Amino acid sequence: MSETPNSFKKILSPSILAADHAALADGLKIVQENDLEWIHLDIMDGNFVPNISFGPGVVKALRSRDKKLFFDTHLMLARPDKYIEKFAEAGADLITIHVEPDYPKAETLRRIRTLGKQAGISLNPDTPADTLLPYLDKVDLVLVMSVFPGFGGQKFIADVLPKIEQLAKWREERNGTWRIEVDGGVDANTAPRCLAAGADTLVAGTAFFNAPDKSAFIRLCQGE
Ligand code: DX5
Ligand code: ZN
Repeated sequence: MSETPNSFKKILSPSILAADHAALADGLKIVQENDLEWIHLDIMDGNFVPNISFGPGVVKALRSRDKKLFFDTHLMLARPDKYIEKFAEAGADLITIHVEPDYPKAETLRRIRTLGKQAGISLNPDTPADTLLPYLDKVDLVLVMSVFPGFGGQKFIADVLPKIEQLAKWREERNGTWRIEVDGGVDANTAPRCLAAGADTLVAGTAFFNAPDKSAFIRLCQGE
């Protein structure tokens, strides 16, 4: 049976980047206490993006405190192919790599799946959707960046909405099973616009950790 964009379960993946880094376990606890299934882990190398976050050691430490959450691991690295095994061993469930840098992408996606993990491909706000065409049959998720990666707390770039619509159209035409995730500046105003465009998985850092009413924000992101 073919799935329409709306038949995908809506998932909120809170980004721990916005939590207190001196107390990441507390950030993890907030996600656990809100009965969420996913957590988004932003890995930055100071090369592909102008910031450094944390590496496989932190992912492993978080995994040792949580066996259940789905670790949605976003690699903002110039050479993610060099670190796939490390993140797989650390406990990532989904490993998303970027389409922009120069490295063997199809082979890296294949290796991620060979390790028994889900594979994702991401693109920056100014990268056209058709750069993903060679990879759509090799991924479990497409991650559309709605800010230029590197920092939390940036403003949502609404120009990416047509790209989400395009990806949802391709998915429907091809009976694709990959999720469409949006990352950057997702808040109570922009989340419904992403869902309306065809997204099913929303990353939120600042808006989630700062939400005065987390359950209301979660319900909104889950399309309820
Ligand atoms: C940006 C990261 C995002 C970011 C989202 O480089 O990939 O995941 O943490 O943060 P907010 O929701 O604050 O824009
Ligand atoms: Zn991210």
